[in-house]
Amino acid sequence: MLAFTTFLSLAALAPLLNVSGLVLKRSGCSLSGVKLSNLPSPLVAPSSPASFVGIAIGTQNYTCSSTGTYTNVGALAELFDASCVYNTPIFSSLPGIVSAAWEIAPPSLPVSEVISTLHGFSTDSVLGQHYYVTNPITGSGIDPKWDFTSQGADAGKSDAFVVAAKVNGASAPTGSQDIDWVQLGALTGNLAKQVYRVQTRLGQPPASCTVGSKDIQVKYTALYYGFGGSV
Ligand SMILES: *[C@@H]1O[C@H](CO)[C@@H](O)[C@H](O)[C@H]1NC(C)=O
Repeated sequence: MLAFTTFLSLAALAPLLNVSGLVLKRSGCSLSGVKLSNLPSPLVAPSSPASFVGIAIGTQNYTCSSTGTYTNVGALAELFDASCVYNTPIFSSLPGIVSAAWEIAPPSLPVSEVISTLHGFSTDSVLGQHYYVTNPITGSGIDPKWDFTSQGADAGKSDAFVVAAKVNGASAPTGSQDIDWVQLGALTGNLAKQVYRVQTRLGQPPASCTVGSKDIQVKYTALYYGFGGSV
């Protein structure tokens, strides 16, 4: 039985699911026309064909450093397939629509619950999850992972993931309230050789914190693109 608040919140997220529902196919559409251009410097355009395009809802994790400012210490997000809206007029408004829906979802709905709840439903529009893992090469520090092994078209394929490290970052062109756009290069996994986080909405921490205060999670949404996959 779902908690009532969860139902309400999924209703809040309905615009996201309905957007996909507006087109005949909800997920798994052709990626052949998917491009990423006009990136802010120093981000460099991808050099391989697209392997995924997804819209993510999630939270960025921050810890209060000894200097009284927040440091990013990871994230958790659910990715929805955007391939079927990519070539529609809705695509450009998708970040705004999804961000608005995610912002009004109550604090009692953490992204972990969105993920576990959607695992129990028809999840044809879910691509997978984004979270952080220990750096698989050096064994120290954490790096972001995109994990499509449990849902979507690549479910069950053990190499349908990518752990990547940042290559370039740029302030979000949309404003200082939005987290940086980033370009990453794969460390392990076959989902993509390059990953991009663009069209970010929110996710920035408060400007300062009281040393010793608890870690915080800040809601954000973003488009994630993968290029050069071989799954
Ligand atoms: C980030 O916060 C989420 C809760 O929103 C938690 O599940 C996750 O483990 C955290 N990740 C890191 C790397 O701190």
